[in-house]
Amino acid sequence: MTKMLVTGGAGFIGSNFLDYMVEKYPEYDFVCLDLLTYAGNYQNLCNVIDKDNFKFVKGDINDNELVDKLFEAEKFDYVVNFAAESHVDNSLKNPNLFFETNVLGVMTLLNACRKYGIKRFHQISTDEVYGDLPLNRPDLKFKETSILNPSNPYSASKASAEMICKAYHRSYGIPITISRCTNNYGKRQFPEKLIPMTISKIMYDEKVTLHGDGTNVRDWLLVVDHVTAIDLILHKGKDGEIYNIAGDNEINNITVINTILKKLGKGEEMIEHIADRVGNDLRYALDTTKIEKELGWTRTRDFDEGIEEVINWYIDNKDWIENIKNKTYMDFYAVTN
Ligand SMILES: NC(=O)c1ccc[n+]([C@@H]2O[C@H](COP(=O)([O-])OP(=O)(O)OC[C@H]3O[C@@H](n4cnc5c(N)ncnc54)[C@H](O)[C@@H]3O)[C@@H](O)[C@H]2O)c1
Repeated sequence: MTKMLVTGGAGFIGSNFLDYMVEKYPEYDFVCLDLLTYAGNYQNLCNVIDKDNFKFVKGDINDNELVDKLFEAEKFDYVVNFAAESHVDNSLKNPNLFFETNVLGVMTLLNACRKYGIKRFHQISTDEVYGDLPLNRPDLKFKETSILNPSNPYSASKASAEMICKAYHRSYGIPITISRCTNNYGKRQFPEKLIPMTISKIMYDEKVTLHGDGTNVRDWLLVVDHVTAIDLILHKGKDGEIYNIAGDNEINNITVINTILKKLGKGEEMIEHIADRVGNDLRYALDTTKIEKELGWTRTRDFDEGIEEVINWYIDNKDWIENIKNKTYMDFYAVTN
């Protein structure tokens, strides 16, 4: 029996990954370890929670004793680490927490991998580790070999985690892979992030806040395409390798907001301009030749198609947003366990 630990699986990308993997690999056993921080939502596991090959454990990736016991009991083949503090604005206010979770938490998991053995530890990283690119050089894209140049405590913590993974690979022979993905969008993204924030504000007829002039460019990938890339890396990727994953959908923030406003029948009067985030990265763009050529990965939707699907999900699942707005989502685990 193949066993996979998915940390941070009650969050946005982790829960989409579990939906896909639990269905695709009924012969595997999945364990989700998640602390259920403000960004974790037990409801996100609704499609997998009752499956025979799925188990949820509430806990901290930084809890040495818990992690040790879990690895000893389960003898995992694969670990996929999504658990992280993931919001740049929060990292500017409380950088220490980002290093505790995103760096020391990764070390705790790697120490357990070292002690109990593992087929593969996969670290979910981000395009933000590269820093940014100028707006006037659309020809430039980061390759896996580009230098890391993070701009804020969040991206610095993710870059640090990568360094630890590489060091454990080289020093102790732990089989690791790393993926660096661009901005994801999709169902169940916490409404602190641009797209679900915009959709949910408009649903409640509230103003949408925009940092600076909105010319900053991000590359958007539908979360389900990220998930298939991780599956490929786990099963076909080479130990010690890093893979870029991107949407090839470079769009500036003001265009993203205007696209959503238009699709929801609203105008620019809904936008409230606020001061730019300090050190806000200008543009992210990745070269994905490696994962396409070596692993045969492709993306399935462009932004226009994907955003339509995603807006419809939030409209059809207004309860999900409502439960976050009134904070009842935080009680679901206690109520059902
Ligand atoms: N969202 C994006 O666009 C994006 C893009 C590239 C990479 N990433 C990376 O993907 C991963 C997942 O991102 P997301 O958007 O799903 O994040 P998220 O904030 O939605 O989810 C994070 C999850 O981790 C859990 N968690 C936090 N601290 C924990 C701890 N100490 N122990 C156990 N669980 C803990 C939270 O409860 C939550 O369920 C992160 O590592 C992030 O850096 C995200």
